[in-house]
Amino acid sequence: MIEIKNLRKSYSCNFESKEILSDMSLIIEEGQWCTIIGPSGTGKSTFLNCVSGLLKPDSGEIIYEGINLYNLKEEIRSEYRRLNIGFIFQDFKLLPHYSVLDNVALPLIYDEPKTALYLRAKRLLDTVGMKEDLFNRLPEGLSGGEKQRVAIARALIANPKVLICDEPTGNLDIDNRNIIIELLKEFKNKGQTIIMVTHDEEVAQYGDITYKLYLGNLETNEGTI
Ligand SMILES: Nc1ncnc2c1ncn2[C@@H]1O[C@H](COP(=O)(O)OP(=O)(O)OP(=O)(O)O)[C@@H](O)[C@H]1O
Ligand SMILES: [Mg+2]
Repeated sequence: MIEIKNLRKSYSCNFESKEILSDMSLIIEEGQWCTIIGPSGTGKSTFLNCVSGLLKPDSGEIIYEGINLYNLKEEIRSEYRRLNIGFIFQDFKLLPHYSVLDNVALPLIYDEPKTALYLRAKRLLDTVGMKEDLFNRLPEGLSGGEKQRVAIARALIANPKVLICDEPTGNLDIDNRNIIIELLKEFKNKGQTIIMVTHDEEVAQYGDITYKLYLGNLETNEGTI
């Protein structure tokens, strides 16, 4: 279970502070697929970054299975993230000087024997529909959709308990989008938790619950929570 309590986040810009998230609270049950929608610029990525432990909120708590993420020392938090939380970034964040295969394997490079790790990385790349002749290419030589699929494979390499996805199908054609939907369904069927931001209504319909981010708060059909 993930408890999000009284989350607030503002950004300062040109000596002005703009509140993006205002007192947001939410409980995500283990195994739930939670979808977040909302207009551009409302703070969806900011929310995911806070929830994943990447961006410290101004106040509030993020609690994973009783562990208060921002009470952990930075190194321990980043270790917790690496092993338990997969993150598919909206802008992919692939490492530019590493090959496709290395990008997928790197999160676990010191944790596992290389042969088994690289075999799994190859299988995952194959599952997300990457052709083998792209495995040794640098990210700069990939299309947007190919980069997105590498980012998805990387997020899954540690078999995380929680997958946080920021527009995971935003750059994909219908066939590849369907592959990713199947992958997410499989992930959920194994009891793992998904928190996803999407503008794609087709993708949104597979979630268990949809929230709309609006004026710094989350709404369901029943109203603001
Ligand atoms: N580091 C930052 N410094 C200042 N303002 C920021 C920063 N990051 C984001 N913002 C602003 O915060 C607001 C929310 O940004 P965010 O990226 O969370 O929106 P979003 O809902 O994910 O949008 P999109 O659907 O376009 O991805 C935007 O107005 C953005 O300009
Ligand atoms: Mg965003």
